[in-house]
Order: sequence, then C-alpha cells, then structure tokens
Amino acid sequence: MKRFFRLATLLTLFVVLVSGLSAAPRVIKLTTKFVPAEQTTLSLVKVIDGINKGSNGALEVQLFDSGTMPIGKDGLELVAQGGDVMCVDGVDFLGDYVPDFNAIIGPFLYTSFDEYLAMARTPLVEELKAKAYEQGIKVLSIDWVFGFRSMMLKKPVKVPEDMIGINLRVPTSPLYTETIKALGANPIAMSYPDTYAAIQSGVIDGVEGSIMTYWGTKQWENVKEYSLTNHLLGVSAVTISRKLWESLTPEQQKLIQEQVDFGAKDNLDATVASEADFMEKLKGVGVHVHEVDADAFNKAASVVFTKFPKWSPGIYDKIMVELNKIRGKK
Ligand code: G3P
Repeated sequence: MKRFFRLATLLTLFVVLVSGLSAAPRVIKLTTKFVPAEQTTLSLVKVIDGINKGSNGALEVQLFDSGTMPIGKDGLELVAQGGDVMCVDGVDFLGDYVPDFNAIIGPFLYTSFDEYLAMARTPLVEELKAKAYEQGIKVLSIDWVFGFRSMMLKKPVKVPEDMIGINLRVPTSPLYTETIKALGANPIAMSYPDTYAAIQSGVIDGVEGSIMTYWGTKQWENVKEYSLTNHLLGVSAVTISRKLWESLTPEQQKLIQEQVDFGAKDNLDATVASEADFMEKLKGVGVHVHEVDADAFNKAASVVFTKFPKWSPGIYDKIMVELNKIRGKK
C-alpha cells in the first residue's frame, strides 16, 4: 500500500511538472520606436493584451517601445532572420526588401488617409506582401496610419528654397533621404529617439513628422514652427517573422491577425479624433502653424519617382491607375 502511495505521489508530481512545462508561454518580443504617450503605442498595448489573454497563456507578447530594442532597418532584420519578434515601424523599411513598398508611399501621392487605406487593399500591394513573405517577413498590416508629415523647425518654410541649408533628420530610409533632398534640405538619417538630444546639441535643425509625433514626443519643447508640407504619410507596418508565424497554430495566427487589424482601426480612429485636439494643444504651448506653397513642394518632389532604379518599371503608372480607380469610386 505504502509503495502504491509513493508511486501515486511520484506520478502526480510528474504530471504537475510536465503540465507546468507545457504551460510556459511562447515569448514574442514586439519592438517599436513609438513612445508610451503616442497613440500607436496605446493601441499596441490593447493588441498585446488581446493576444496574451486570447491565447490563454500560450503566447506572451512583450512590448519594447521607444527604441529600447533594435528598430527600423535593424528591427526588421531581426524579423527577417526568423527571431521570435514582431516589429512596428515605417512601411519604408519594407522597401529595403521589396523596393516597390517605397513607391506606394511616395511623396504627395495621397490626399486622405482613406485613399492610402484603399491602396493598401489592392492586388498590387498584396503582391508586394507576398514578396516580403518570400524573404522571411509576414506583413500583418500596413494600415497603422499616424498622420501626414510636415516640417517642425525653428523657422517657418513656405517654398522649397526656404529649406536650403537646413539639416533635417530623416528616418534611416532612402525614400526619406531622397524626398527631403528633393525638397531642398540636407537629410540627416537617425533613429527618432535620438532626435530630441540632436536638436538640442545642434546636430540637426529639426525633424519632419505628424501631429501625433509632435505632441507625443514633446518635440515642441525644441522647435515651435510647424510648416504644413504634408509631404509623406506617416504609416507603420506591423510585421512578424515568417519562421515564427509558421510555427504557430492556425488559431493563434487568426488571433494575432484579428488583434492587429483591430489595433489598426483603433489607432486610426483615435488618430483622426485627436489630431485637431493635439493641434490646439500645440498652439497652446507656443507652436505656430504655417501654410506652405503646396504646388511648389509637390513639383519639387516629383523627381523622387525617378531616383530608384530598383523600383519596378512603370510602378508609378500602376499606382496612378489604382489611385484613379479609388478616386473614381468616391
Ligand atoms: O516616436 C517616433 C514617431 O512618432 C515617429 O518616428 O521615425 O517615423 O519619424 P519616425
């Protein structure tokens, strides 16, 4: 009898140990440049909560915001290399793998968020996502819009000539470098989290970015003249490594995709709802907002579409065909 109890106790211990082991969650690190106060991070927190709770403890997504893990080019490299990683950063970084991703977010293409979001649903973009997948990157969404980007400087600008001599920070991506060069300034590539100190030390004169960025990262403490060039759309891609994706169950894949789509809408709705409020808040802390000669900036940027030999021949025309269809549908 004693022996039976000893055996039973051992068996129970074994079962507890094994079930304990199998209950260890799969940790996924999510890296992003956005700071906690920015809407994108607030929406990501909801997404992560949804995934972690929805997976009943099988998955544990951990958030690394503000560039505390590699971001941008380096973040996407971790994804492509097959780590247990998700990355939320500019669609432009996908352009390092599939160059046409840069073409679809080129300067002055869109006049509204909706136009871009409709483009993101075209077969043209689906093809680009499939090409990224071949290179180890599962693109979960390119819908994470955070606003049109304009100039945050110490002086207002009205025409491209006013940009001459300005050292302007750009994300470390060729689309931004070429666009800012075309608009007249000297592009200085660096990660966003380094910009606050770089303005203060005089390495750069300012940055370009959305209203959310301006308010959320407190850049208004450094630069108070906001000139509304609206030259590019601030939009993030949410990516996950293909290796990790293929190791998940279909239910887990569905959960992640649903949460990321929900988050994109949450982020978009809140961005749309808060832009006017942020603008008022910015004015309240002394920011001056300036209209620019939009035609002059638009004209100056047109050269960008000739600067990328790796873009597919005729890609601009293909984009315009889709865009005209989108506009025709309105
Ligand atoms: O917090 C940074 C974000 O708002 C903008 O980053 O690199 O797109 O300018 P970036």
